[in-house]
Parts: sequence; C-alpha cells; structure tokens
Amino acid sequence: MHGFSYNKGVLHCEEVELNALVAQHGTPLYVYSGGTIVDHFQRLDAALGGVEHEVAYAVKANSNLSVLRLLAKHGAGFDIVSGGELFRVLKAGGDPAHCTFAGVGKTREEIVYALKQGIYSFNVESEEELRYLNEVAGEMCLRAPVAVRVNPNVDAKTHKYISTGKSENKFGVDFEVIPDLYDRAARELPNILLRGLQMHIGSQLTSVAPFIEAVEKVAPLARELKQRHGIVFWSIGGGIGIVYQNSLESGAAEWWQTHTADDLPLTIERYGKELVPRLKDLGLKILLEPGRLIVGNAGVLVTRCLYEKKGKAKTFKIVDAGMNDLIRPALYEGHHAIVPLAQPASGERVVVDVVGPICESGDFFCQDRALPDFHPGECVALMSAGAYGFAMASNYNSRPLPAEVLVEGGSATLVRKRQTLEDLIAGEL
Ligand code: LLP
Repeated sequence: MHGFSYNKGVLHCEEVELNALVAQHGTPLYVYSGGTIVDHFQRLDAALGGVEHEVAYAVKANSNLSVLRLLAKHGAGFDIVSGGELFRVLKAGGDPAHCTFAGVGKTREEIVYALKQGIYSFNVESEEELRYLNEVAGEMCLRAPVAVRVNPNVDAKTHKYISTGKSENKFGVDFEVIPDLYDRAARELPNILLRGLQMHIGSQLTSVAPFIEAVEKVAPLARELKQRHGIVFWSIGGGIGIVYQNSLESGAAEWWQTHTADDLPLTIERYGKELVPRLKDLGLKILLEPGRLIVGNAGVLVTRCLYEKKGKAKTFKIVDAGMNDLIRPALYEGHHAIVPLAQPASGERVVVDVVGPICESGDFFCQDRALPDFHPGECVALMSAGAYGFAMASNYNSRPLPAEVLVEGGSATLVRKRQTLEDLIAGEL
C-alpha cells in the first residue's frame, strides 16, 4: 500500500492535500505517510509471525528522527551503519539493546560508542575487524557481542551497485571459512561473544528466489554454529524490493498487464510464506533488516516546474529538485513515477525529460518518458522517494537540503526545516 491518492482531483498524502503542504513549506519538499510506514512494518512483522523474530529497520534508508521515533514506538529494532545512525536512534528513543551495527569500516570511535551504549550485536565483516573489536572491548573490560556477516555467494539479480552477496563484493566473509573463523574466535578472542550470524545479499530484490537460495545455503551453517558456539540469532538481512511503477502513473495499467502472477514483484506475504518454513526449525531468533520496504513507497518528493525548454531533439521540463535531492535516477537508473499534483483531465501525454537545475547531464528524473503535460509553476510528485531519497541528499551546487513533512491521517508535521543559506556555511571557518 501507499498513502498517496487523488481525492477530488488533487493528490493527497493520507488526508492532507499536497498542494497545501507546498503552499506552507515550499518546494522541493519530501512528504512521508506515517500510516504507510507503520502498515509496512506491521505487515512484515506479521508475515514472520511463525518464527521468533525481530524487524530491525535499516536506518540508512531514511534516518529522519520522526520516522525513527514512529518505528521505535511500534516496536522496531534498528540496523545501523555508523555512530551517527546510533546517535539518531538514541535521540529518537530507540533501545540500543535492539540495535545491530553493520558495515565494513567501523572506526575505533564508533566501536567504543556502540560498546558503551550496549548494542545487541556488531555485524562483523572481516577477521581483521573481529580482532580489532576484541582488542578495543578488552581495553574497556567488556565483551563485544558479534555476528559475522557471511557472504553466501548468491546472485541477488539486482543493480550491480546494490548487489552485495557475491564473492566479488566487498561485503562479508566467504562462506567456506566461517566455521574455522568462529572456532578460532572462540579459542583466541576472549573479549568476543559469538552471538549470531548475519547475511545480506543485496537491495531491491524483486523475486523471492535469491532469498530462498541464500537461506537454504546458509541454514546448515547457522545450525552448526548454534551447536558449536551457542549462537542465538541469525539475521537474514534486508533487501526486499518494492514496486516503483506507481498505480497513479500513466501506463501503470499496461505495466501490470505485462506481468503474470509468477513474475509479479515480491510481496511481504510471499516473502514470509516462503521463508518462515525454512527458518522455523532452527531454534534461532531471526532478524530482518528492511529499509526500502518500510519507507520507500511511503515518501514522495514534490517539486515545482520552473521552465519548459523545447530543444531540437527533446522537450525538457526543468524542475526545482535536482540530483542532490534525489540521486537514485542518476546513480542506479532508478525509476520514480512522476505524477502531477492536479489529476490530469485527459489521457493526453507528452514525451519529455524531467531534469533538475544542477550542472550535470546526469541530473534527470526521467528521460523520454510519456507524462501528462505540466507547466511552469505547477508541481509534480516524484513517487516512492521515501527510501534513499533524503538520506542520500547532499548540498552539491550549494543547494540547501529540502524540508521534510510527516503526515499521519489528517495532520501534517514539519519534521525537518528546509536548510537556509546560513546553514550551508555553518561550520566553515
Ligand atoms: N542490511 C544491510 C547490511 C545493508 O547493507 C542494507 C542496504 C540493508 C540491510 C537494507 O536494504 P534494503 O532493505 O533497504 O534493500 N541507495 C541504494 C540502496 C543501497 C542499499 C545499501 N544497503 C538505492 O537507493 O537503491
């Protein structure tokens, strides 16, 4: 589900008109549907009901404090990748005892901070990191709870920049050497507590097959580590893909028609139905680390058309959001549906490039796409921008970061102010 629909011809987020939010907060503007976030979290939680589990939201997808607070309130754990993310989770009222800390390059400062806070597990990505953790924990007279990330060498069949479970990726430890590594850690590293096993094969997986392959491959290893070392949890990572083709988008009906029941994108329910039977007899707590699934379809980026430029080869709609605000099309050729705030009166379409103001040819939101026409002064929503949207935004071209609004039912709260020009230089000496 997502919380965006036309009501009396105007695009709403839940019960709030996007036009009204634009009038109040300007553009570019991120708007999130709290109801959608909670719905996705609860559906995933329910789909895993058949096995002891915890949903640890991957903070990197959207780390706004209010989003974290909403998820903490509904009982989510958190998967973090930096000291900064841990800081955010704590500020939002999250419980460090329900935090896992992933990432290939944890610094000493981050390790000390996370040890002091008492996080649930460090998801360790190499033997070198494991030994370093042992050293730092030893200096602090603590034991560091650990899960080593296994690289199962499974093809996630996703964009190459977001595939992580193959041997050639920088992530995790090769499947074959894991048992030996746990044995040596148990013998040689007194300040390491072997608490679990972790894996994550990639992001935006739209088929359940790679998840099944990875779980089936790694389950015997998890069982062995439980017997030999008493591990208590297995994190099977995140990566559940979402549908970027939006039902409000022109051509959506045709898109759905080209998909048969078998190749329809992965649903939360299918994920649970396929994986729970393969996990439930292990006697391990199963952790999930979803990011995109929880927040992706729960957010849009609203942008205003500034100019229309008709060139020899193309028509460009130049909008006030750029690749610094939403980098996914430039970086991963990501598709975001582009939907006018005012419902189009006819089915007429124009073929356009929607581009931003940044001085790069990669600064586009779509190329040669048939869209309902819109004109300077009018606004469109870039859909499914809730994950890796604001979280990846930058000040490139000295552009202030956009504002963010969280909608819950009929109420809308500004949860991050638009940056000012002064904010841009704050901190520079
Ligand atoms: N766990 C680990 C260890 C991860 O590295 C990631 C994502 C996740 C969980 C959450 O994955 P998700 O459920 O969101 O797929 N910026 C890219 C996606 C990068 C994903 C990085 N790791 C994009 O916009 O497509």
